[in-house]
Amino acid sequence: MSDLDQLKTSLLADIAAAADEPSIEAVRVNALGKKGSISELLKTLGVMSPEERQTRGAAINLLKNEVTEAITARKAALKDQAIAERLARETVDVSLPVRSSPAERGRIHPISQIVDEITAIFADMGFSIAEGPDVETDYYNFTALNFPEGHPAREMHDTFFLQPDEKGERKVLRTHTSPVQVRTMEAQKPPIRIVIPGKTYRQDSDATHSPMFHQVEGLVIDKTANVGHLRWILEEFCKAFFEVDNVVMRFRPSFFPFTEPSFEVDIQCDRSSGPIVKFGEGKDWMEILGCGMVHPNVLRAGGLDPDEYQGFAWGMGLDRIAMLKYGMPDLRDFFNADVRWMSHYGFRPLDVPTLFGGLSV
Ligand code: DAH
Repeated sequence: MSDLDQLKTSLLADIAAAADEPSIEAVRVNALGKKGSISELLKTLGVMSPEERQTRGAAINLLKNEVTEAITARKAALKDQAIAERLARETVDVSLPVRSSPAERGRIHPISQIVDEITAIFADMGFSIAEGPDVETDYYNFTALNFPEGHPAREMHDTFFLQPDEKGERKVLRTHTSPVQVRTMEAQKPPIRIVIPGKTYRQDSDATHSPMFHQVEGLVIDKTANVGHLRWILEEFCKAFFEVDNVVMRFRPSFFPFTEPSFEVDIQCDRSSGPIVKFGEGKDWMEILGCGMVHPNVLRAGGLDPDEYQGFAWGMGLDRIAMLKYGMPDLRDFFNADVRWMSHYGFRPLDVPTLFGGLSV
């Protein structure tokens, strides 16, 4: 076997053995690179006699062409093979969800959640929902609720007054949800069983007070409604709302112009373990609402005869009990619209609170 045949056999074997693109490139450099075996042979062409160039020279050129072709073919095959391997390795499962749906990501604000929880509880007791305007007349906010003209109780509310309108009437941002009591009495005949969730406004701002806050009001009017019923309803409400089997409540005598007698209600609780207060146990008391029997003057303002009808009402701040139930330390965060706070404290939109399915779980 001539030296050229030997070289060809060995190079073709190397080409066949090259398993990837870098190895075939190495074979190419070995054979055809500057100092490659074939390149060295080609350099000898210059010193050959014309006869030798015709025989040996032609054989070297033939070898060069054969090896170049073999390398090119092998390179193409290895390239295809590499692509096929990558395609097999890098498959994408397009059936996997890329990002969660808006319904998954959106959150219900804790205040909306609390309103939904409270309305679920009272709806179960046969109450319906009533609403009224945030911009209220002085009459409904104060006068109809038996606040006498110039009475200091009006000042107690730190009222936001609007500019007088063309008739000289000065509207207010309602300081409580109680004005909806009289509006409802005017609009519907007893028996009345309503809850009134809504926004309320007072000039007050710190970690536990915001100039806009939320209340829920309750009103029951019929011919026999009494304090016993009021007490039962509030107890059932607190058990359901705080999701405990028992609550201990304390009714303290108090004063509101629109109720007589009036009470403030405390609920027994345990404040020893941080921002989340435990209800239905413990040694502490916390005031949660005001209530009482509707004052005869308020019934009259609503167009009802106090000798025929009687009723009770209560009013409760929502923001603070939301903070207590869900452990938020600062009220102002409720209104900062910080999406990180919302995704931490917010509720999943499809988990609608119901008594049978659970309020907050
Ligand atoms: N309106 C009162 C307030 O904002 C709360 C209140 C107390 C409402 C007693 C009532 C009630 O309906 O009977 O402070």
